[in-house]
Order: sequence, then C-alpha cells, then structure tokens
Amino acid sequence: MKGPPTREFSKPTFAENCTTDDSGGCCSCATCHIFVEDGPLDALPEVTADENDLLDSSDHRNDKSRLACQLIYSDALAGLRVQIAPED
Ligand code: FES
Repeated sequence: MKGPPTREFSKPTFAENCTTDDSGGCCSCATCHIFVEDGPLDALPEVTADENDLLDSSDHRNDKSRLACQLIYSDALAGLRVQIAPED
C-alpha cells in the first residue's frame, strides 16, 4: 500500500477504488473489512472494543481481520499487504 503519511487506510483503499466506505471511517458499518496478510504487523494499532464488536458481526471474520478505517497510514506501515474481505 502506498500513500502519504497520516492518511487513513480506508481513504486510498476505499474512497478511490470502492464505493463501500459507508460510515466514512467512523467504525460503524464494517464495510471496510480487510484481511491483513503480510508486512509490518507489529506496527498495527491494537483492535479496539468497538472494532472488535463490529468484526464479530461478519461471517467472514478470521484472525487477520481488521477494519481499514481504523488503520491510520504511516511510514511504519509501508509494505503492509491486505486483502478486501468478502461482502457480508
Ligand atoms: S468505513 Fe465503516 S467501519 Fe470502516
């Protein structure tokens, strides 16, 4: 993933490539569900209680699941590989 520092992951991923950014990155819809596949996993923020609750609503949740809107892009996340989760 490439993008300038401080941008939310959901902005380059969803706003430019998809039309599923329904909650505008407010952690309320789970349409930005992704699977974090590889890269600097230790640089990811911890899953919050709200994010965890929303991910639980997905039939496709697995141990790689995150909400892209909760991952703020920074140089520390350069090289992170993600896959968009199937739609629920
Ligand atoms: S964009 Fe809605 S929860 Fe991430």
